[in-house]
Amino acid sequence: MEPAHASPWWKRTTTYQIYPRSFFDGNGDGIGDLRGVLAKLDYVQSLGVETLWLSPFFESPQADFGYDVSDHYAIAPEYGTLADCRTLIREVHARGMKIVFDMVLNHTSEHHPWFVESRSSLSNPKRDYYIWRDGRRGGASAPPNNWRSMLGGSGWRHDPVTGQWYWASFLGFQPDLNYRNPEVKAAMLGVVRHWLDEGVDGLRLDIFNALFKDASFADNPFSWRAMPSEDNPHGFFQRHHHTIDHPDTIAFARELRAVVDEFQSPPRFLVGEVFGDARTLRRYCGEAADGLHLVFLFAAMRARFTGHSVRKLVEQFERAFPDPFSPTYVLGNHDRPRLIHRLGGRHDKAKLLAALQLTARGVPFLYYGEEIGMENHDIPLHEGLDPVATRYRAIPRWLVGAFRRRGILLNRDECRTPMQWDDGPHAGFSSVTPWLPVHPKRASANVAAQDGDPRSLLNCYRRLLALRRSSPALQEGALVWSEQRLPRDVVAYARVLDVEGHRERADVYLNFSDSAVTLPGDAPPGRIVFSCRDEARGAPVRGYVLAPNEGIVASDDGGARAQPSAASENSSIAPSTTWPSSVT
Ligand code: GLC
Ligand code: CA
Repeated sequence: MEPAHASPWWKRTTTYQIYPRSFFDGNGDGIGDLRGVLAKLDYVQSLGVETLWLSPFFESPQADFGYDVSDHYAIAPEYGTLADCRTLIREVHARGMKIVFDMVLNHTSEHHPWFVESRSSLSNPKRDYYIWRDGRRGGASAPPNNWRSMLGGSGWRHDPVTGQWYWASFLGFQPDLNYRNPEVKAAMLGVVRHWLDEGVDGLRLDIFNALFKDASFADNPFSWRAMPSEDNPHGFFQRHHHTIDHPDTIAFARELRAVVDEFQSPPRFLVGEVFGDARTLRRYCGEAADGLHLVFLFAAMRARFTGHSVRKLVEQFERAFPDPFSPTYVLGNHDRPRLIHRLGGRHDKAKLLAALQLTARGVPFLYYGEEIGMENHDIPLHEGLDPVATRYRAIPRWLVGAFRRRGILLNRDECRTPMQWDDGPHAGFSSVTPWLPVHPKRASANVAAQDGDPRSLLNCYRRLLALRRSSPALQEGALVWSEQRLPRDVVAYARVLDVEGHRERADVYLNFSDSAVTLPGDAPPGRIVFSCRDEARGAPVRGYVLAPNEGIVASDDGGARAQPSAASENSSIAPSTTWPSSVT
């Protein structure tokens, strides 16, 4: 029986990001597409994730591979048709899953008809759809002010047609929309409503923090900071005071929320791509939890692999996002070095981080391929198709590596290579040469090789996801730190749910050290229902010896109904897998 849930579905869900161009090529042109995603829904379902987020596949010149939209209502032909898109929404729903689209509200492509009109003359009715200003000296020699783009350098572009400059927060071919124009706001809210009407369950909001720019156009203040980072987006020697995190953007989060709340059966959600410290990020969610439902917390991508760092991270998230807010656990995406890269390719460590991600309180976001340990592909900048790589083309290779180690990819192709389905020449992604090279390590990191192996990373993810799906405590229980005396490198907490008719507790122990650790004899009683090492299930937790980099979940009646082994459940999501039900 469904327990009485304390929280809405989107707080209990698990999310899987698909970069459609790289997931599966359904028609043999080397480019992933919507039919490809459809063809792989069985796989996604067998993995056990509940919500899919797809990077943009709208009409676009693809200069930033879809993050440069030229028609928000049309599907880019290389990805398919509107009919394919509707079929995908229907099929995802038919499987009891949800689907999230990527909304690029901040800017359009320079080829969007609005911008084509806007740039054509000073008096064009669409002129004010974008942000146009005169240069400081009235010409092409000096931009209107000192504002830098998110990638460094002036964000202003001189446009010879009218002699004015337009503002672009990201790359020059992505002009920012002017949200101070009520027509623009109404038009973009129309786009949002349109896709929610089509049945989309949530929206991921691209660089949401840049939406409003200060109307004064005053210079940004100087800062000593050279490089921006996840927890501090300021850099390139300025504080992006007038261009990022504007109070009007925070207010707009609430306005957008009200629009999304018009859609109630089922409720929908918003997740924002914003950057900054936890306090700044929380502001986007609204003081009364009436703003964005979720924001990405990228700090997990930078946390060191030690018990101390991980505990600090979780503590910080818990403090900044107490109920009714919810943290998010993000270990990778289409802009960042792949997770396994930071772990030196170690699958045991990846399993442990997956155990953290899928047992902590918050919404986990998995990036395609993470579940099989897909690695970054070291592609030289000059071979990069990514426009960011083109922009930084002149930077020496050693510096690229230094950036990558800091979590910044200058060539994002490296983390967007084709999904590795098998060890064939194109990794089973396509029948022809794919748009990006397949990673040479496809022989071990591929779905076919890991599918039947109970010890594989893939099956570890499956077991964790199945466990979470069957455990209301893991989905929505409070996170309570363990009071046991344990070595510093063991992160231990319980997830506790106590709602009417359902009391449940799951104890989590994560060993971030290279030594074995014996759990105390007076630990809360229970049996192991999950271990990164498959064979430990069913063992009593008291006195259990945690292997190096092992994570376990225990439940106080877990032994009686410990889950079936991964090998027997690997091709279905094992709806029969039940978490020990109510212990009241
Ligand atoms: C976001 C996207 C990134 C894109 C940029 C501009 O950061 O994640 O891929 O290039 O916005 O839209
Ligand atoms: Ca294709």
